[in-house]
Amino acid sequence: CGIIGYVGDQRGDTDVLDVLMTGLSGLEYRGYDSAGVAVADSSLAVRKREGDLSALESAVADGSVEGAAGIGHTRWSTHGPPSDVNAHPHTDADDRVAVVHNGIIENYGSLRDELEDRGYEFESETDTEVVPHLIADALSGGVEPETAFRRAIGRLEGSYAIAAVFSGSETVYAAREESPLVLGVGDGGHYLASDVPAFIEYTDRVIYLDDGEFATIEPSSVVVTDDEGTVVDTSIETIEWDAEDAGKSGYDHYMLKEIHEQPTAIRQCLSERVTELEGCIDVDSLASVSVPDRVQFVACGTSYHAALYGTRLLRERGVPATAFLASEYDVDAVPIGDDALVVGVTQSGETADTMGALRGANRVGATTLAVTNVVGSSAARECDHAMYVRAGPEIGVAATKTFVSQQIALVMLASELTGEYGDELVAALRDLPGKIQSVLDASAARGIATEYRDSDAFFFIGRGYNAPVALEGALKMKEITYRHAEGFAAGELKHGPLALVTDRTPVFALVTGGSNPTKTIGNVKEVETRGAPVVAVTDGCADVERHADFVLEVPESHPALAPVIANVQLQLVSYWVANQLGRSIDKPRNLAKSVTVE
Ligand code: G6P
Repeated sequence: CGIIGYVGDQRGDTDVLDVLMTGLSGLEYRGYDSAGVAVADSSLAVRKREGDLSALESAVADGSVEGAAGIGHTRWSTHGPPSDVNAHPHTDADDRVAVVHNGIIENYGSLRDELEDRGYEFESETDTEVVPHLIADALSGGVEPETAFRRAIGRLEGSYAIAAVFSGSETVYAAREESPLVLGVGDGGHYLASDVPAFIEYTDRVIYLDDGEFATIEPSSVVVTDDEGTVVDTSIETIEWDAEDAGKSGYDHYMLKEIHEQPTAIRQCLSERVTELEGCIDVDSLASVSVPDRVQFVACGTSYHAALYGTRLLRERGVPATAFLASEYDVDAVPIGDDALVVGVTQSGETADTMGALRGANRVGATTLAVTNVVGSSAARECDHAMYVRAGPEIGVAATKTFVSQQIALVMLASELTGEYGDELVAALRDLPGKIQSVLDASAARGIATEYRDSDAFFFIGRGYNAPVALEGALKMKEITYRHAEGFAAGELKHGPLALVTDRTPVFALVTGGSNPTKTIGNVKEVETRGAPVVAVTDGCADVERHADFVLEVPESHPALAPVIANVQLQLVSYWVANQLGRSIDKPRNLAKSVTVE
């Protein structure tokens, strides 16, 4: 879910509704099954609609929503299906307060029972609705809005970023516990949001809230306090990217733009770290981390595939490494020695499953490292160390440039931890952006997509460094085309999945230098014999090309980096299949970019 809030410093100067709607469109990647706004004037105007933002736009088009302070929300359902009633904001019975929430209130069942026993009536099935009723209850006791808000928050268990506005007030109140919330300090007003793209068009000066902190946003001030009301010293940070960076820049989809930004993303990830003169890699944030006895990665989705890639990099350098799906990581069952390093790979730095695993690791005293794209994210702040992949904002729900940047960051992590760089690797890293650019300029992916878009299923196979890329190729295909796709370590295909192979199931075979071509070619022959079309994704391996119906070319590179380039070809195939099938590429059905529930 995504939250936006705004308080203008002069009534009528900037339209509150405009700011809220702009903010919501910048947050839609966090969920988009319903959306709503509440604006405070002498009374509260609340509008909310099931569906994407256009439904809400129609609901506010009559110009009746006006005021000096407001909040908005775009939802990804957890409690209660998408509907007008379950959409946020939620209010008390007398419309004295409106509340938006991201996260899960774990004790909402008992709070709801208690409130219902005392006569409060609930309209929605959400956990959030307990909050306005708790606030209303405190207001009825005669306290001021701020005290009522604090008392209500004090009753909650779980994770939340919450914002509230009161009728007849020009103040937005907010609180944070384990869900992101960032404040924007502007010239014409002040903002709060789940993430910076919501207000970057208005200000680049931000304050990150910490867990347990409250914010009071008024026309002329932004004040952060702790749970006892004591003012907390905060620093204002300046965001380096601007609204245009977060726009589509002429591409039809954010995903295509982000695929094309990969050479730049890699350069950004490498800059300051690959020192031209010395030819070595300096990972700034790791200066104090000693070589660990072992490394455990925790991650989800695409980031998990990057983590699998990372394990191989470390193992090749002699460090035992394992990748865990964060939702399956259990610190009590997995021994963590004193010298273990637990690495959370997470683009957003907010994924609840990954945060749960990292918090568990912190609890038992492991050293933790966040590999993330979002400065100031929960992962970055709660881990002992943070390494930023510096891909720039990624809006498309399907991760592309952040995956590539994660891979490169993990190459540097493995090299730095073990002191093993290798001149060849450093040179290949420098050449990598140019090689990816050549793929972007001349890929055959679009034609191959046309050929196979109506297939029954897509299979992806590869060994070694190519095995996680095969998994990622299939995940991308599923996410944005809604076609059945599976990725396998090439050797596994014959142990079951081969039964699914027919002349209507193209097999994408990743064969690049150093990833055991001979054996993979054997697997290619197995599918060829069953009539499957074969697409070779290869850096010139003539033996596999001989068995292929089509070839996606990968420029030659270091054995660990050729698969990074091969992945770009697979991204393009998925993009063009989805494009030709008319899918909702940037916002695939049922998915959200940042999933902040476990
Ligand atoms: C969601 C997204 C995936 C992403 C995963 C992990 O499920 O839809 O694309 O890979 O979260 O996200 P993270 O921000 O932790 O990398």
